[in-house]
Amino acid sequence: MKHLPIVLLASALLMACSEGPSALTFDQVQKIQSPGDVLELTVGLTPEGAPVYSLNRGDQVVIKPSHLGFQLLDEDDLLDGFAVTAVEKNSFDETWEPVWGEEASIRNHYNELLVTFEQEPEAERAAQEGVSVTDPEYTGDLGNNSGKGAVMKIRFRVYDDGIGFRYEFPQKNKLTYFKIKEEMTEFAMTGDHTAWWIPGDYSTQEFSPTESKLSEIRHLSDLPRPRGGSPQQGFSPTGVQTALQMKTAEGLYINIHEAAVLDYPTTNLDLDDKNFVFTTHLTPDAEGVKGRMQAPCKTPWRSIMVCPSATDVLASRLVLNLNDPCALDDVSWIHPVKYMGVWWEMITGKSEWSYTHEYPSVQLGVTDYAKSKPHGRHGANNENVRRYIDFAAENGFDGILIEGWNEGWEDWYGHQKDFVFDFITPYPDFDLPALNKYAHQKGIRLIMHHETSSSTLNYERWMEQAYDLMNQYGYNAVKSGYVGKIIPYGDYHYSQPTINHYHYAITEAAKHHIMVNAHEAVRPTGLYRTWPNMIGNESAMGTEFRGTIQPGHTTIFPFTRLQGGPMDYTPGIFETDMSKNNPNDQQHMHHTICNQLGLYVTFYSPLQMAADLPENYARFMDAFQFIKDVAVDWDKSLYLEAEPGAYIVTARHPKLSTLNASARSTATLPDARKDMVTNAAKFVYALPENATVQDLAKAKPHDVWYVGGITDENAREVTVKLDFLKPGVVYESTVYADAPTADYETNPQMYTITSSEVTSADSFTIRMARAGGFAISLREK
Ligand code: NOJ
Ligand code: CA
Repeated sequence: MKHLPIVLLASALLMACSEGPSALTFDQVQKIQSPGDVLELTVGLTPEGAPVYSLNRGDQVVIKPSHLGFQLLDEDDLLDGFAVTAVEKNSFDETWEPVWGEEASIRNHYNELLVTFEQEPEAERAAQEGVSVTDPEYTGDLGNNSGKGAVMKIRFRVYDDGIGFRYEFPQKNKLTYFKIKEEMTEFAMTGDHTAWWIPGDYSTQEFSPTESKLSEIRHLSDLPRPRGGSPQQGFSPTGVQTALQMKTAEGLYINIHEAAVLDYPTTNLDLDDKNFVFTTHLTPDAEGVKGRMQAPCKTPWRSIMVCPSATDVLASRLVLNLNDPCALDDVSWIHPVKYMGVWWEMITGKSEWSYTHEYPSVQLGVTDYAKSKPHGRHGANNENVRRYIDFAAENGFDGILIEGWNEGWEDWYGHQKDFVFDFITPYPDFDLPALNKYAHQKGIRLIMHHETSSSTLNYERWMEQAYDLMNQYGYNAVKSGYVGKIIPYGDYHYSQPTINHYHYAITEAAKHHIMVNAHEAVRPTGLYRTWPNMIGNESAMGTEFRGTIQPGHTTIFPFTRLQGGPMDYTPGIFETDMSKNNPNDQQHMHHTICNQLGLYVTFYSPLQMAADLPENYARFMDAFQFIKDVAVDWDKSLYLEAEPGAYIVTARHPKLSTLNASARSTATLPDARKDMVTNAAKFVYALPENATVQDLAKAKPHDVWYVGGITDENAREVTVKLDFLKPGVVYESTVYADAPTADYETNPQMYTITSSEVTSADSFTIRMARAGGFAISLREK
């Protein structure tokens, strides 16, 4: 550690806030502005030596003076008694290219402030030890592990659209191994903002989001409200989860999230609803510890996005920029995926994951499935899987997910059974080698499914063999799942050990060139910048919750859940009456067909599913055409209009280099069709249905844009100006819109499809039905 003199306080400016007990008096240590002078961060110390920060946007206060620090177990807390011993400032400006994403390149431009806080100042310690830091023989070892002062650095990065800060604990420190009782980072709001939130929880994010004032959270979280996921482990009536989107009375959009959560628990935010101050509330492990630290170490970033408009929130890459650059040298095996699945039929109860009802419980390796009596409703059987492969291949998709292919589903859920699955043994009616070969010959990959039943312990035992099996047969993507309570018993989905498990699964998968889409795992925090094989996550209430999903649901997530990374929301449900799939399922979904089409543009994911049954799509092939044509990876995205909980209109321009990447990758398999072209590539290159890669190589890409819109329970009209098109060029447009009579309750399947020639001087005025939407494809002639 370089020894620096105690930094004199930049000025003895006294900040006094008069409203309420959250008011703090502090001496300013430093001020730092964002590169464009939009935001100003102030860092200071109270008279008790407690670190604080505040944030302004012009003359608007965004965050009032708020404490920083920790309560520790078995050690002095890191809350006060600090002096500032060093301050460093830096500027950084880079432009980087994500492996996949909403645009081809991202600017990462910030000013940085690193403040070293020391609990017992160097000079005082030196005096106690009888040495002077100016003595020539002084070698600077007072800051080592036998020294007295705990050193806590805080690194702040200030962008024009928000800030990030993280705590760092250097090696030369009184603290080496220490346990966190609670992180005490505060976010003091200036008033009773409007918020879009889900209840705080240690284990699930599968909740319906609520829009309310901060002061209403306590009351609303007590009310019976749509809740999906289990197990639920709430901790406070005013606890909410990150990412939390807020809007001030003055119209400023504030979003609190976290970035790069690794080897540390995920946090919730607990609200003091008298003073509107949030404090971090970490997820404990099975012993109640909220972080086992070993210096040198650092916490995840805490991020505060501040934007003047809702569309700016959607365009912000703050969380992603706070993550580290890509950790993989070779990313050539990672590509976007458009897929279907033997899935919705199990979700709706049309068929089952399990094979037999013969036994009250099953034992892997003991139960002889070949001799058991099949119940006849097993979805993942050879014939049915081939039916899906045929449909996906005919329509230019990349993959087919098959759930229920492996032994163990008879008692997979609700028993906290450790050894539920081995991830390698198929049921007798699922011919794994033959089905893979069949799929490959049609240019399709099978997507693996690993439901862990939340036994992370068991999954880690089998992971290597499971990934080896995938490599052997040509699977390159896995959907994993964490339903139920975590084993090791007593642990939670968002605790430090479980976070480490999810990360282990990603890094081990990368060694096997496997892409991962984890369901029920922790919400992403931008880690896909570093580990782009993490192509999907669920980690929120997805389409599987059917009738529970309220209109407006999907107009909130791009502001909250999607800020950390894409969601495998599994859109595309055309048949909203579930009894049509299974007479015993009386639920109705709350959307129109065009709302589902709009999601393929408004709800970003490089992994997009067409989730409905092939037979349901077969009834609406003209509308299904948009799902076939739409790309899933972009070099440009424009957020045209948006308001959380109300509506979103987005335009996107496809990235040419990845349009056919999936088919190219499948063609490398020895048993695969070599000339497959994805339907999105056929659309952009204006190729016929039967086009091959040879045709693609000769064809020229046309300039293409896709536009999508979605609305909440209110019908609304939007005008889409086409001024983003190349000027003077004629485009063929196809508009998929809710019919005038469409309505999510009474007429969800009425739509119109209109084609016309347009230029950048034109615009469309489109009416979205209640819980409706629209989609447009535009291709240069
Ligand atoms: C919950 C997942 O979200 C869902 O997609 C999956 O089908 C089931 N678990 C079974 O693994
Ligand atoms: Ca789920």
